Amino acid sequence: MNGIRGLIMDAPKVELHVHLEGTLEPELLLLLAERNVVEIPYASINEVRAAYDFSDLQSFLDIYYEAMAVLKTREDFADLTWAYLSKVGSEGVHHAELFFDPQAHTARDVSFDVVVDGITDGLERARTELGMTTGLIACFLRHLGPDEADATLDQILRRGDLIMGVGLDSSEVGYPPAPFTEVFRRAGDAGLRLVAHAGEEGPASNVADSLRLLQVERVDHGVRSLEDPRLVERLVDERVPLTVCPLSNVALNGVGSLNRHPLPEMLDAGLMATVNSDDPAYFGGYISQNLLRSAIEMPLSYRHVTTLLRNAIDAAFIDDQRRSELHAELSASILRNPRSGD
Ligand code: HPA
Ligand code: ZN
Repeated sequence: MNGIRGLIMDAPKVELHVHLEGTLEPELLLLLAERNVVEIPYASINEVRAAYDFSDLQSFLDIYYEAMAVLKTREDFADLTWAYLSKVGSEGVHHAELFFDPQAHTARDVSFDVVVDGITDGLERARTELGMTTGLIACFLRHLGPDEADATLDQILRRGDLIMGVGLDSSEVGYPPAPFTEVFRRAGDAGLRLVAHAGEEGPASNVADSLRLLQVERVDHGVRSLEDPRLVERLVDERVPLTVCPLSNVALNGVGSLNRHPLPEMLDAGLMATVNSDDPAYFGGYISQNLLRSAIEMPLSYRHVTTLLRNAIDAAFIDDQRRSELHAELSASILRNPRSGD
């Protein structure tokens, strides 16, 4: 395990599935509640943590949306973004693509521009102070339906230079991809990169429909793809990246334990899986912890881990030069942390 542990800590890591609002740690939640005089149903960090006992995706989303009430100003979004990036920067994340949920803020009368300007302040600080590269992906909340998504796309396109893509998140069961076909077509035509959550709690057909109807380039989660062998064949053939989030799947009871998680099987089937953190403040770990605990508890082989690290670089929305830099850094890290001691 020495080789694997050393590699995971030392390697340049790429995060492709993290919700900015899901990085809101209890300490910052309480600080912002006080700063903005917002009432929250928790008096202490322990009380906040005690509430993080989820039975499924919806039970998490209820608390996740409620906590966002403390985010009000440009400074709040900048502080949240910087708190996340400075933390993972120190864990060796060199490139991160962040999701955010604009509708969860505009519904509370926090303007789209306040959100985007604040996040951009944080991204810019990470670039200048830490040398990190980043991207921003705006997700449509599927439970609000396609008309609201369409209006949100208008706002996204007005700030198009700052937002690289669109995604689809929130409650998957009962909200399949098909109604979002037109809004994704419009986003794609405008040059935005396309991703969607699918096959997290919903069936494998949601993954197939996200590819066929929404034309997504990456699938977020996608763990239930294994239930459809023909879909697996297509995902392997077309090298469609799947942004898997192991600790999230366990926290939301999609799988019973890391030991029963299908990630090793997915990699052995040739699927282009990556490991990510989803909502790390809520699910018990950032990307390094997701990789480390997966390696120990699933378990993963040294080769599985190098494949995951390489896949994430290949799946990132970056130019060829940045991709080559990251691959070179990863190769150097693999040399520093060989398989011996495994
Ligand atoms: N699934 C769907 N929507 C989300 C998630 C998730 O894991 N996290 C934040 N929004
Ligand atoms: Zn997610």
